[in-house]
Amino acid sequence: MTDRWIDIGTIHDIPRLGARTVPTPLGDVAVFRTGTDRVFALFDRCPHKGGPLSQGIVHGESVACPLHNWVIDLETGAARAPDKGCARKLAVRVEEGRILLSLPLAVAA
Ligand code: FES
Repeated sequence: MTDRWIDIGTIHDIPRLGARTVPTPLGDVAVFRTGTDRVFALFDRCPHKGGPLSQGIVHGESVACPLHNWVIDLETGAARAPDKGCARKLAVRVEEGRILLSLPLAVAA
């Protein structure tokens, strides 16, 4: 599948251990910044009951969902055992301080 990279702002727009949401035609995407300035993007829906992951607590490279405290791995979107499920992730990268988010071309066009 071909993707298109869109510029969503600078890394400084997101506080460390925080997140911001980016609306897309596929739904809101939560873009997270870790304490070590790594950036990850997941759709803003917990695999449990759709809680807003963007409002969760980031620790290490995980986020705890604010509703029932499931812990979601930011790299893969997978819920930590014994919970099961996976939030959908999107590719994201940082170039010269700008955050670029990958959207499927059919959506981004
Ligand atoms: S909705 Fe996220 S833990 Fe329940």
